[in-house]
Amino acid sequence: MDLTQKIISLSKRRGFIFPSSEIYGGIGGVYDFGPLGNELKRNIKKVWWQSMMKEENMVGLDSGILLNPRVWQASGHLTAGFADELVECKSCHKRFKKNEIAGNKCPECSGKLTKPRKFNLMMKTFVGPVEDNSSITYLRPETCQGIFVNFLNILNSMRLKIPFGVIQIGKSFRNEITTKNFIFRTREFEQMEMELFCHPKEADKLFDYWKEQRLKWYQDLGIKKENLRVVEVSKEDRAHYAKRQTDIEYHFPFGWEEIEGIHNRGDFDLSNHSKHSGEDLKYFDEKSDQKYFPYIIETSVGVERPLFAFLTEAYQEIKGGRKKIKNQKSKIKIKHEAEILLKLDKRLAPIKVAVLPLVRNKPEIVKKAKEIYNLLRPHFSSQYDEVGSIGRRYRRQDEVGTIFSITVDFQTLEDDTITCRDRDTMAQERVKIKDLVKSLKEKLENC
Ligand code: GAP
Repeated sequence: MDLTQKIISLSKRRGFIFPSSEIYGGIGGVYDFGPLGNELKRNIKKVWWQSMMKEENMVGLDSGILLNPRVWQASGHLTAGFADELVECKSCHKRFKKNEIAGNKCPECSGKLTKPRKFNLMMKTFVGPVEDNSSITYLRPETCQGIFVNFLNILNSMRLKIPFGVIQIGKSFRNEITTKNFIFRTREFEQMEMELFCHPKEADKLFDYWKEQRLKWYQDLGIKKENLRVVEVSKEDRAHYAKRQTDIEYHFPFGWEEIEGIHNRGDFDLSNHSKHSGEDLKYFDEKSDQKYFPYIIETSVGVERPLFAFLTEAYQEIKGGRKKIKNQKSKIKIKHEAEILLKLDKRLAPIKVAVLPLVRNKPEIVKKAKEIYNLLRPHFSSQYDEVGSIGRRYRRQDEVGTIFSITVDFQTLEDDTITCRDRDTMAQERVKIKDLVKSLKEKLENC
């Protein structure tokens, strides 16, 4: 099994990611995030949001998924800007993105291919009860347009001065010709976008600043430097709105692929929205007594690609298992399979604390463990597990990246202490129950 397959299998088995509508055979390019995947996703979004809000002059927005369809005329998404070249196999009728086909034969059945034609990626829908041309609109393919069309509202209501940034997290939809590599390219995904409005002369400097900030963000969350690279995108390959584009790429198990785009969008968006809407979206700079369209520096990333990268980076298999717990005197020979350890950053780990009664046939121990679980739950994302041997339960927690495992044992009944096992060092510390929340809060600062 290759690493992608292993991650897919772990994701399904342990409640991270499921294919959407699986009982009906699924739907291409859509995934559901299970109890743990949802926590992981929320943690990624939280860390991203916090890192952005640390900046001066940064505000948030939550705009609609549906916009007036004229937005998409102005943004260039309904014209050539947002279409991929599609070829179809004349024999098996499968469709492919032209730039992903090596030769001129079908990669599936070697059949002949049709000539390439443009395929627009916008997801069409209708607003209101009448399904005619006047009610057509689209699910947004990027969240940033909601920011651009609110430029004046935000500027005026928040009394901002340039440079200032607007951030947004939300769903985007693209009718991708092909979806592949698990959650890497899907038709429904979430984006985290930052749009910085600035003076044109400041744009280059701010572009470089943001490129560095975004690279640091991944490294700070555990992605190795050697698995990240920055690619300057040539004029021919840039997005239709970009004056300059740098992709941050990650070394996925299937090769180097884009994880995030940093764009200098120039005045493309504000000048086009001004033209199409008739509203004056120029900024009046009191200091210089100038009126101009601000340039926009954008950092744009899906939630799912970093999530996939974090899982890839954190996934470890330890052949023969990790060091066994002391005093385990089992005479039964256990054939140890490789143990999985998901070494996610503690801010990202979906479960921070697991509570495990040493045995489940001692009502006093079980009762105490449940009390501790109730004590921790309001403070930390926690789980209670009493099924199987304690070693097996530690392994189950390691497999999903749980930071601490609390064991309630016979000594607990005597002195009100528990053992707190650290996922990474496997060190076990005895802590008084009355100090437990405080001690965990210190260890899980910023989580
Ligand atoms: N507003 C600019 C913009 O949307 P993009 O390069 O088209 O730029 C930015 O997309 C990011 O959104 C990508 O780097 C990727 O992380 C994510 N993304 C785009 N299409 C995606 C898809 N089909 N599935 C998953 N993530 C996608």
